[in-house]
Amino acid sequence: MTSLPPPIAHLQPLLGTWRGEGHGEYPTIASFDYVDEWEFVAPPGKPFIRFIERTWDADGQPKHTETGYLRCPSPELIEIIAAIPTGQAENGSGSVTVDDGLTIATDAIVLNTESAKRVDRIVRRFEVNGDELTYGMEMAAVDQPLTLHLRATLRRVTD
Ligand code: HEM
Repeated sequence: MTSLPPPIAHLQPLLGTWRGEGHGEYPTIASFDYVDEWEFVAPPGKPFIRFIERTWDADGQPKHTETGYLRCPSPELIEIIAAIPTGQAENGSGSVTVDDGLTIATDAIVLNTESAKRVDRIVRRFEVNGDELTYGMEMAAVDQPLTLHLRATLRRVTD
């Protein structure tokens, strides 16, 4: 296993590919379930991890995807930069907690393209416990206050 540079060494448990199931909801839409995959990769020597999420519906049709970076300029600080193809750019910061597992919490402002549905804030929480990754995502969007949109549970499929 390649060792990570000091600013991101504590993020090692996140690396790899994870697959599982998610559930989505929001006050303005019908609830839904999805198949979820996240890939977290650390390019050698760099103080960041890049990620790509891919999702599918129950029929195997591709749904939402997104890609971005988790940056740690220092071990105490984590920042998220993500591009969302529905027209949003997420830009936030937060905390990393390492105890029995790893918890990453971020709170982000959002820039929207002209035609995008308006998202003002994205709050995420990832928890890694061994080979299980769970996350929650809340957003303030389309005139709603900060409200749950996604939660998912995934299992590690590759290191
Ligand atoms: C950062 C990530 C995401 C953001 C910012 C986001 C944002 C939004 C917004 C603004 C809406 C519109 C709500 C409305 O029209 O009232 C929406 C709807 C929806 N989202 Fe997400 N979403 C994200 C991730 C996901 C993921 C991972 C899935 C998984 C499949 C998903 C599936 C849906 C579905 C099915 C709808 C309702 C139908 C539609 O408008 O396409 N979203 N989302």
